[in-house]
Amino acid sequence: MNKKHLLKLNDYSKQEIIEILELAEQLKYETRHGIPHDRLRGKTLGMIFQKSSTRTRVSFEVGMYQLGGHALFLSSKDIQMGRGEPIKDTARVLSRYVDGIMIRTYSQKEVEELAYYSSVPVINGLTDDEHPCQVLADLLTIKEFKRKFEGLKVAFIGDGNNMANSLMVGCLKLGMNIAIATPEGFEPQAHIIDEVKEIEKESKGKLYLVNSPKEAATGADVLITDVWVSMGQEEEVKKRKAAFEGFQINRELMNLTNKDSLVLHCLPAHRGEEITEEILEEHEKEIFEEAENRLHVQKAVMVKLMAKS
Ligand code: CP
Ligand code: NVA
Repeated sequence: MNKKHLLKLNDYSKQEIIEILELAEQLKYETRHGIPHDRLRGKTLGMIFQKSSTRTRVSFEVGMYQLGGHALFLSSKDIQMGRGEPIKDTARVLSRYVDGIMIRTYSQKEVEELAYYSSVPVINGLTDDEHPCQVLADLLTIKEFKRKFEGLKVAFIGDGNNMANSLMVGCLKLGMNIAIATPEGFEPQAHIIDEVKEIEKESKGKLYLVNSPKEAATGADVLITDVWVSMGQEEEVKKRKAAFEGFQINRELMNLTNKDSLVLHCLPAHRGEEITEEILEEHEKEIFEEAENRLHVQKAVMVKLMAKS
């Protein structure tokens, strides 16, 4: 794999995604068995956060420590970027101190600008458009529980947002069928659908964009959801709660899925909204394995991108 950054999943080929998952499995084994794997000894990761985080922050920071390196938490409230210092200057300054930059922000363009001006690898830790690290963790979890990708049907129930966008790419690249069920008016953006339809042409999997959760869930092997109101959409709470009524993973929907179907959720979850308490707890095994897998896939991404830099 010869990539400089991880800005969006579509920049990676099927083979490159498989290589990341394989390295993540190896690092997971080494982590669990206490086998030292300080492959980034002496390296430093700067982590810029313009939005809240539990999993992304902790898994990158712990992951970097376990790899023998160090991570710095840079809240945009505390660094000069929050007072208007341009991203292109921040990129050039940080590049002289750190060996990699992880950023969680709003606009995908901002991440691309950061990468353009940075001389070190940039990793997207979530934008309004993409959540590639989360989807890598989801793919690893599917691999662990189902032992295959091709032929599976994944159904995403909810907003046509960052999670749905990266999931469509990841699932199709690995040959899975993916159904996205959103309320009308909340479908993924047209430019993303165009990109994904190109991937579908080369894929063994199919893309289904529907407005019915039941249609998406029927015959699914994996059901995935995400919050109705993402970070940055707080002013739309009322409108969104009304629009997403019924877009919930519950017993009725589970009854339409295949035997032994998985439920995944990137977390945080809003019980009683996108998923019921009952279904979340029934599937806590894979949901919290998915959360742990953030650590392992991100370590793999950092090793792939930063070990040589
Ligand atoms: N799933 C996820 O990205 O979680 P955080 O927002 O806690 O990082
Ligand atoms: N779609 C959610 C994901 C949180 C991990 C958000 O952007 O807030």
